[in-house]
Amino acid sequence: MSVKSQQAVCLRISGGREFGKLIEHVSASSRTIVGADRVTFWMLGKDQRTLASLPSSEGGRVFRLPFGRGLVGACAQKQQIIVTADAYRDPLFDQRDDKRRSYRTVSELCLPILHDDELIGVVQASNRLRSDGVSVRIPLRKGVIVIGEFAEDDVVRLREVANLACAAFENARHLQAHRLLIDELSFTLADAISVRDTTTGKHIKLVTVIAVEVAREMGLSEDAVQEIKIAAALHDIGKIGVRDHILLKPVKFTQKDYRAMKTHAHKGRRILRKIDWPKGLEAVPYLVGSHHELCDGSGYPAGLTKDEISLSAHIITVSDIFAAVAQKRPYKEAHGPHYALKLCRDEARSGKLDPKVVRALARVIEHHGFEALERRSSKSRAGSFLSS
Ligand SMILES: [Fe+2]
Ligand SMILES: [Fe+2]
Repeated sequence: MSVKSQQAVCLRISGGREFGKLIEHVSASSRTIVGADRVTFWMLGKDQRTLASLPSSEGGRVFRLPFGRGLVGACAQKQQIIVTADAYRDPLFDQRDDKRRSYRTVSELCLPILHDDELIGVVQASNRLRSDGVSVRIPLRKGVIVIGEFAEDDVVRLREVANLACAAFENARHLQAHRLLIDELSFTLADAISVRDTTTGKHIKLVTVIAVEVAREMGLSEDAVQEIKIAAALHDIGKIGVRDHILLKPVKFTQKDYRAMKTHAHKGRRILRKIDWPKGLEAVPYLVGSHHELCDGSGYPAGLTKDEISLSAHIITVSDIFAAVAQKRPYKEAHGPHYALKLCRDEARSGKLDPKVVRALARVIEHHGFEALERRSSKSRAGSFLSS
């Protein structure tokens, strides 16, 4: 492998953001860089006594190993590089590991992954694929292949991969933890409104679950789905600034009440604009501020028209109207999903809602069922229902 292509692979590894995809890149890239049949990443468990393989590096399965068992376990325990040319003659090798993985190891290279001198895992390269050097022919699942020995160069290359992978894994873990914290904080903030009005709390959760499903149904990227999720959770946060006698009014609004209620859209945007949103969530204040805009320009606060409103905002608007009509609110009884969907279709025909989004909503309701979506949204903690 040329230095240039190796650099390209390394850049791809370090630039990866999503943990699952990152592991796939790392495993595939490592196989190419080292020239091994398999490369498996093992991460140290929270108990500090076991290792678990990362699923993408073992075809979706997770294997666990106690410290000290087999070449991988010995590598972790001693924190030393272990190289063998003939695993079945190596006293450290444990053949049970091959049986569990339905594999036949000949040559193997195990390298500890350290972060700030602390063990975080082991990278295991199995069966060097090379025609030069000492080689044997053995039957593997791909057919008969030539196995070579791991040499000093391979150790150097695998160490570089392990270092890069280690940094990338740590970044991905921090990113995941950061995202979870933003989810929890957003829902805690959104829940503040439900202390005053429990039906709004239920409404926010249902809008979020539906908006996420509609976004996925429409094929939006996972980053866009995350942004919609946070914005949908916070879409009515501006109601914090609406007085109780209006927010909780059990009868129809007067014109004056309605004007006061309508301020929640721009109030929400104003509250959220003060936050320095991380990359990928910059549009949250805009989405919250535009969830009452309509395609024909009759919405509020800005009276934007269809092309001036982003697809993500259209998705939140449609999900909001559907959920508000289907569920009970302080000012009205529940009308149920059939009536709510019919109303959305009518509003799409009359030019107020985006028809593509309404069609996607109809498919989501048909596929998941309204009751199941409502049940999922009623789970109390943000993380629990958002990850379902
Ligand atoms: Fe609203
Ligand atoms: Fe709403």
